[in-house]
Amino acid sequence: MSGRLDAGPAKRGETENTLTTRKRRVFSGTAPSGRLTLGNLLGAVGRWTVLQYETDCLFSVVDLHAVTTEHDPRELAARTREFATTLFAAGLNPDVCTVFVQGHVPEHLGLTWLMECTAYDGELRRMIQYREKARQESVRVSLLTYPALMAADILLYGATEVPVGEDQRQHVELARDLALRFNHRYGETFVVPEVTLPRVAARLSDLQEPTRKMSKSDPDDAVGVIRLLDPPEVVRRKVARAVTDSEREVRYDPGARPGVANLLDLLAAFGDDGPEALAERYASYGELKSDVTDAVVDALRPIQERYRDLVADPGYVDTALAVGAHHASDLAAPVLARAQRNFGLLPLPAPAPSPA
Ligand code: AMP
Ligand code: TRP
Repeated sequence: MSGRLDAGPAKRGETENTLTTRKRRVFSGTAPSGRLTLGNLLGAVGRWTVLQYETDCLFSVVDLHAVTTEHDPRELAARTREFATTLFAAGLNPDVCTVFVQGHVPEHLGLTWLMECTAYDGELRRMIQYREKARQESVRVSLLTYPALMAADILLYGATEVPVGEDQRQHVELARDLALRFNHRYGETFVVPEVTLPRVAARLSDLQEPTRKMSKSDPDDAVGVIRLLDPPEVVRRKVARAVTDSEREVRYDPGARPGVANLLDLLAAFGDDGPEALAERYASYGELKSDVTDAVVDALRPIQERYRDLVADPGYVDTALAVGAHHASDLAAPVLARAQRNFGLLPLPAPAPSPA
């Protein structure tokens, strides 16, 4: 793997941030398309639930990102609510961190325009996610400009750290470049963020196609994808059908035997032992799969119980999202105002004092 994995040394020509707002702050998000998976939990959301107790964190259900590709307008609002509810069920605590829906905070769109006026057409066209999708089908303009919206998400809050999986690294690096360019051209405005990837390269593979990432946007009935809200019998069936190989002995060899390695990685994620040590403990694939099922069912049970409680009490989620959006907007508004002023836009004049 090339490039920086963590907060590395400054790039050539980069100036240190001099903004007084530079304190440790985390921002990350997930787009409400498809349904959250075990991969999302292990690669992202699980880390967020730990980070929230370490530092100042904001997490967003980024609905405006979910519409950069074809979407179903009859489903979007329900999915957005389901995602937010699942994040709370998985352990995000609205008393400790800020959780909000992106579309509830209009500053995101305000700053996106300035980001689009800072980015070059060529750099957006180079984004891998855009190139891969645009090659296969006709795409919305918003898929091209999506990284400008993502940069706005990050820069509005002065985020110093953006925990995402490998697939999002290029977009966060673009947000860095845009922050540096804007600061250089228009004066110190933004905190320059860093990508932080998971310490262990948490990348859970699809159980049916173990060389491919388990993806939340696969069809709802995909057998290789474990959803956070899958009932125990569905988990059992999906794990039982997981692709392995024709060998008999359980061995950890991700290159040659990716299916078994993925199951061992999965089991390792829930305990203290590494995948190699676990492999020695099993005499058959059947026993391994049975333990994987139990581990996943045990991990999902409390999330699903809490999810059911939250669905029965919609006021909790509504209140948390209203408070979250309010707080996010309070943080974002002065940053947007500073960016607009530095960019040269005329600030809204204060109303004339009314005659006494
Ligand atoms: P996405 O599902 O692509 O919207 O991603 C939301 C977050 O979950 C991102 O930070 C991803 O890197 C992470 N993520 C998604 N799928 C996986 C997976 N299969 N394994 C590990 N992390 C994942
Ligand atoms: N694009 C990210 C994804 O698909 C989600 C996202 C949107 C995000 N804005 C963000 C992640 C800002 C981190 C920071 O996973």
